[in-house]
Amino acid sequence: MYESSPLLTRGPANAPGRARIRSLVAEAEPQLIGEVARLGIGDPEAIALWYGEGDMPTPRFICDAAYQGMLNGETFYSHKRGLPELRQAMADYMTGLYQRPVDMDRVSLCSSGMHGIMIAMQAILQAGDNAVLVGPLWPNAEAATKVAGASARVVGLDNENGVWRLDLEKLFAATDSATRIIFVNSPGNPTGWMMEREEQQAILDFARDRGIWILADEVYARLVYDRPVAPSFLDIAEPDDPVVVINSFSKSWAMTGWRIGWLTHPAWLGAGLSELVEYSSSTVPPFLQRGALAAVTEGEPLVAEIRERCRAGRDIVTPALTAHPRVIMAPPVAAFYAFFKVDGMTDSLAWATQLYRETKVGIAPGRAFGPVGEGWIRLCFASSPERLGIAMERLTGFLDRN
Ligand SMILES: Cc1ncc(COP(=O)(O)O)c(C=O)c1O
Repeated sequence: MYESSPLLTRGPANAPGRARIRSLVAEAEPQLIGEVARLGIGDPEAIALWYGEGDMPTPRFICDAAYQGMLNGETFYSHKRGLPELRQAMADYMTGLYQRPVDMDRVSLCSSGMHGIMIAMQAILQAGDNAVLVGPLWPNAEAATKVAGASARVVGLDNENGVWRLDLEKLFAATDSATRIIFVNSPGNPTGWMMEREEQQAILDFARDRGIWILADEVYARLVYDRPVAPSFLDIAEPDDPVVVINSFSKSWAMTGWRIGWLTHPAWLGAGLSELVEYSSSTVPPFLQRGALAAVTEGEPLVAEIRERCRAGRDIVTPALTAHPRVIMAPPVAAFYAFFKVDGMTDSLAWATQLYRETKVGIAPGRAFGPVGEGWIRLCFASSPERLGIAMERLTGFLDRN
């Protein structure tokens, strides 16, 4: 486990003679996925596999619904927690997907999964608190903990020959009387690890017992390759359990740029979340919500298509990587990332930078996902087979040389 309270230091933004800003912000280190992407963003020759997104634009039926919403004059401030018809549609969607019904009182729309994480953290955490997070993890979740004023304790998954496993004893031992949140992202970014029902039940029992919130980041719930949907806390939690599930339109409907997500939570938390939406974005643009409504009510074939595209990507990337003698990796069971260890590589940022400069293949350095990620590389395989084929040829050539 490692613990971090301030963000990592970068430079003295709070220099003498300057109007002071919050030290957390003054000392913030750049998010390292963006550091590599900066080298080639907008370069038409870049094969960009650094971010968690595919290369498929949002389909027409979703764009048309949003455009129609605009033309219909849905261009004003709107319901803080989302259009009632969209909240109902999300409740119906989750009721169809999971083993327990979800009422629309438990659903709040927000401006992306990231925004959902941020307002959930702000709703729960204050100075002196800590959150225990399962890592390696997407850096933004750890950062959101600190922005909310609390400290982050990251408990690493164990890894054996590329296979990731959660040690529940280690997770529970990292909590103390100041722990307010256990944050777990399954299916996981960057590892592709997926939690099983028994593990979820054990965490839920523990959280109920201690009065700790579970923040379950389930944005990759539909990107799973051996069943239709990943196990969710929504399968087992009672409506009033201390569980907030974070979800997003970004990944399964090809809508990363739309910035729409939703939270599922105990009904009584809705009023507080509504205020936090008011004080941050005030509303998700209502015409965009029309696009989201089309996505969730008519988009099942799209979700299936994206999953199959990702499966095909996984089946190109995995054999190419695992065949390389310097690579340690197990085939990911979910999400859309290959996360692999490169034998002998000690500086993933320098390695990723050099890879991009020599080959135009853009990947994310493992260090971006915490100290446990150093020596590892993350590659997003939600791309066309042609692009992935070229990328793997160049990447394996680079591995031979570096
Ligand atoms: C684990 C995880 N959670 C949440 C998000 C947030 O997604 P968005 O803000 O696009 O909805 C991402 C995006 O990469 C992610 O990987």
